[in-house]
Amino acid sequence: MRKLKIVKHPNPILNKKCKLIKEITPCRQDKIRQMFKLMYEADGIGLAAPQVGWDARIFVMNVDLNRNQHSEMVFINPLIKEESGGIIEFEEGCLSFPGITGAVDRYRKVIIQAQDINGDYFTFLDDSLAARCALHEHDHIDGLTIYDRAKKLYKGKDPL
Ligand code: CO
Repeated sequence: MRKLKIVKHPNPILNKKCKLIKEITPCRQDKIRQMFKLMYEADGIGLAAPQVGWDARIFVMNVDLNRNQHSEMVFINPLIKEESGGIIEFEEGCLSFPGITGAVDRYRKVIIQAQDINGDYFTFLDDSLAARCALHEHDHIDGLTIYDRAKKLYKGKDPL
């Protein structure tokens, strides 16, 4: 397998609606493990497949800053089942937009159904940082980035 790297804006794959994954092969599982590695190297809490140039409805997350392996989550073919709890604004960054942040409105609470790295279905429910992160990553697999979502964008402290 070619070594993966994080693709940056304005790579067109970042604006592509990604494909469903029918088969979770060992090669794809390896690629997912590599995504975690890249995410940790870049100090991120979430990374979506298109961000490594992969047209697939997959994203990974670990919102635990100690990088506890037990907090790793893989979402394959995720479906948002419910968004609720009111809309809040939050400052988001993105590994494909280094140095840029944006104020994005999202629902506080989310319920997502997905498959894990073994293909087993699970339901994810959260109303804090993990919910925020999952919605950001879910946007990526629909080809949406903070450039599309943010009301205001900043480079450092300056408005973009
Ligand atoms: Co992002």
